[in-house]
Amino acid sequence: LVLALALVGCGTKTASTSEEKEVKPIIIKFSHVVTPDTPKGKAALKFKELAEQKTNGRVKVEVYPSSQLYGDKEELEACQSGNVQIIAPSVTKLVGLNPKFQYTDLPFLFPNNEAVYKFFASDAMKGLMNSLDKYNLQGLAVWPNGFKQFTNNKRPLITPDDFKGLKFRTQAGKVLEAQFKALGAGSATIPFGETYAALQQGTVDGQENTFNNIDTQKYQEIQKYLTVSNHGRIDYMIIVNKSFWSGLEPDIRKALDESMAEATKFAVEQADILDQKSKENLKNGGKLQFTELTPDQLAAFQKAMQPVYDEFESVISKELIDAAIKAGQ
Ligand code: LMR
Repeated sequence: LVLALALVGCGTKTASTSEEKEVKPIIIKFSHVVTPDTPKGKAALKFKELAEQKTNGRVKVEVYPSSQLYGDKEELEACQSGNVQIIAPSVTKLVGLNPKFQYTDLPFLFPNNEAVYKFFASDAMKGLMNSLDKYNLQGLAVWPNGFKQFTNNKRPLITPDDFKGLKFRTQAGKVLEAQFKALGAGSATIPFGETYAALQQGTVDGQENTFNNIDTQKYQEIQKYLTVSNHGRIDYMIIVNKSFWSGLEPDIRKALDESMAEATKFAVEQADILDQKSKENLKNGGKLQFTELTPDQLAAFQKAMQPVYDEFESVISKELIDAAIKAGQ
């Protein structure tokens, strides 16, 4: 009896202390597939730092890089069901929710970063973000990475003909498949976390990615040739679980929105810096043979890839394509 009374007393005392309520922070899990030293990896850590600071520790952000928590195949579902609160997939990977996100894969749609950033701020992008609502997902921001380049381990890729018979890894979707088909090449969709092994084992001969993703994934160890083509983009939609986000206290939401806005600015700065830095690393690292295409050689690729526009204009919509073109003018 004495023991029972002591236990009851102890329990009552603990439950009534005010500290107990204070020390329970809201946990936000932020999962992504790249390394911490990429624009996305760094901006995720910046968001964590700002969010924890601005909420005085009432929010704790746990960042899981390198597909540690979820890979390409699982992360969307995990976010919809609330097992993770924030993910940042490249927009192509949203193709299953809205095929219009494949705008980003239309060959040579954007001439430079400025055009891409203008498009991010457009109504067309707002419309794409809002299309996620019905999946219990909310788009918060768009973060850039950069333009894609081709790598492979068979031969230098200088003309469209050089692609014939090769097989490339793609992120997702039919537009990328059609792009390689237009060049006479095959393709296979492979999750980012499995791509190094697929290249190493020869499941595919090559892949396309940004300088920084190639560099931080160390593809130069298992690929021989890189062609600077800037033919497509990798950029990210920062997505939260909608019920979680709308259930937050207004002051917490405000602090997190501000943190996201600052982290987005930081992501843009880092994307430019890391793109250049990784380009230099790859060019001067002595592992890859680097090909920079002349304007005439680039024009030959543009012509060879034109059928992709004819095939996908109705899927992506003329309005969206026109908005992207306008951003580049
Ligand atoms: C890829 O799968 O190649 C990229 O989307 C990875 C990433 O998140 O940058």
